[in-house]
Amino acid sequence: MAKTDITADELRDLYLTFFESKGHKIIPGASVIPENDPTVLFTTAGMHPLVPYLMGAMEHPAGTRLTDVQKCVRTGDIDAVGDAAHLTFFEMLGNWSLNDYFKKEAISWSFEFLTTKLGFSPEQLNVTVFRGEGKPGEDGYIPADEEAVAIWKSLGLPDERIFRLPREDNWWGPAGTTGPCGPDTEMFIDTGKPKCGPDCRPGCSCGKYIEIWNDVFMQYLKNEEGKFVPLGRHNVDTGMGVERTVCMMTGAPTVYDTEIFQPIMAKIDELRGAGEAPGSALDAGEVLKARRIIADHMRTATFILCDPKGGVKPGNVGANYVLRRLIRRAVRYARQLGIAEGFTVTLAEVICEKYSHVYPELKANLEQCRLDLEAEEKRFNATLDKGEAMYKKVAEQLKAHGQSQISGKTAFKLYDTFGFPFEMTCEMAAKDGLMVDKEGFEEANRKHQELSRTTSAGAFKAGLQDNSEVVTRLHTATHLLHAALHQVLGPTALQKGSNITAERLRFDFTWPQPMTAEEKAKVEELVNGWIAQGLDVTKKMTTVEEAKKEGAMALFGAKYGDQVSLYTIGDVSKEICCGPHVANTKELGSFKIVKEQSSSAGVRRIKAVIGNLG
Ligand code: ALA
Repeated sequence: MAKTDITADELRDLYLTFFESKGHKIIPGASVIPENDPTVLFTTAGMHPLVPYLMGAMEHPAGTRLTDVQKCVRTGDIDAVGDAAHLTFFEMLGNWSLNDYFKKEAISWSFEFLTTKLGFSPEQLNVTVFRGEGKPGEDGYIPADEEAVAIWKSLGLPDERIFRLPREDNWWGPAGTTGPCGPDTEMFIDTGKPKCGPDCRPGCSCGKYIEIWNDVFMQYLKNEEGKFVPLGRHNVDTGMGVERTVCMMTGAPTVYDTEIFQPIMAKIDELRGAGEAPGSALDAGEVLKARRIIADHMRTATFILCDPKGGVKPGNVGANYVLRRLIRRAVRYARQLGIAEGFTVTLAEVICEKYSHVYPELKANLEQCRLDLEAEEKRFNATLDKGEAMYKKVAEQLKAHGQSQISGKTAFKLYDTFGFPFEMTCEMAAKDGLMVDKEGFEEANRKHQELSRTTSAGAFKAGLQDNSEVVTRLHTATHLLHAALHQVLGPTALQKGSNITAERLRFDFTWPQPMTAEEKAKVEELVNGWIAQGLDVTKKMTTVEEAKKEGAMALFGAKYGDQVSLYTIGDVSKEICCGPHVANTKELGSFKIVKEQSSSAGVRRIKAVIGNLG
């Protein structure tokens, strides 16, 4: 393929015009904060705002063939950002058939657009298709997508470039926990790099094959029981990534090297100062990673803060916490590069300049975005400044005594008392040629836990009960309530907010209708049962990734940093949280729901109390 100098603006135009010529209506993309779906925090795909139409619940006013560009936020892989491929924000080009055309047209048009409009050679194209699941006649049987294979072959694709893969690879959706979904066919461009091994194929992460487009055939519905049932409609949902496609067409080594990121990266470098050495002992790879993380996270944060729907501010739960984490990670990496405070606003302005002709909301809401960024950056910098000052004192003292290791106890104090992320202690220590006793840190953490248990148990015995104790008990009760809601209502009953006073807990969660009297009774029964069982509450320090592997309930750590506290209650609850919690559920006495009401569309609110001790 001849390399082109296509821009994102040109690609959007090419795509929309092409599908318009195939009878599609161009519709505006939706808000990045979902309007009608409480099961996800952000819009993750172009199909998302179209779910009611894909389900056939409503007719779309623009007809049955639609096309658009959708702002998407996906933060599931936030820790992988910094490599060549992962982004937390991207633009998705899409075309849809709402029970109109199906596989033949969808695949043929994808092929036509890729080869005649974008100029990819058919030889570069590799595709994957769904290979089926189960056996005919068995429950859950879904046939292989031989129809898609036949269509690709009719377009000239040889069998060796058509890969039949299982559900993990070739099934898309639903976007939340339930909804429309189906087998897909994914299109990969072969970059021409050598295979990384004999098993290298589309989907391999080595970078030989880059996925740029996905055609989903939405014939199924995943229902509340987690079963895939026929939807009774033949929809098409497609998604092409703007950043990746521009990258592949221009031959840029990574998305960060495209014109899309160019002004953002240039500003980051300007803020670092021309030729200035990085502010810490980072090698070139680490500098590159930090620049990319800052660029990615600030782009996402700016789009969230400027979203026309509004309302997402840096905070401690749900979407607000994701936003806070994005901004704080950017701040942390900016400090590593020696970038001064105020950069978040400067970058938001650059991003606004780059995109506001396509997304006018960026300009319209920039003022509020500036205020929010400024406040969050200041707040986090203050925490880090204090932590750094403490760290420096520690380092000086050590050096003065000719020592070279920061004890686990000291590292723990920096973390626990000053909120200074443990990995920052490690990074700064590495720069100063000091070692950190990581095992000692874990040990100090465990000891601290033991101590607070003993104190709490002692206070319990003595019948003491100040406000902080009540709050601690209610905190643990909240985890039990969350776990009970999952058992009674299912995994879609997700925490949206939590608030605790000395009198009661308040818990908001996604659920579409009032709970029945039986459901409430069942939840109370479960929680009281767990209290009666006297389950131990344990805390351990781990990484978000490990916690997720263990099935923990929150996506992101409660305390900033790679190390998070994971609280486990018996075998009923596992949540990432900063605590504090009681040592044993017995300390809660008893649990009662006093109110269950609507909080907002699709969100219910429970107020509950726990029994007095003594
Ligand atoms: N909804 C499909 C995706 O996100 C097109 O890949």
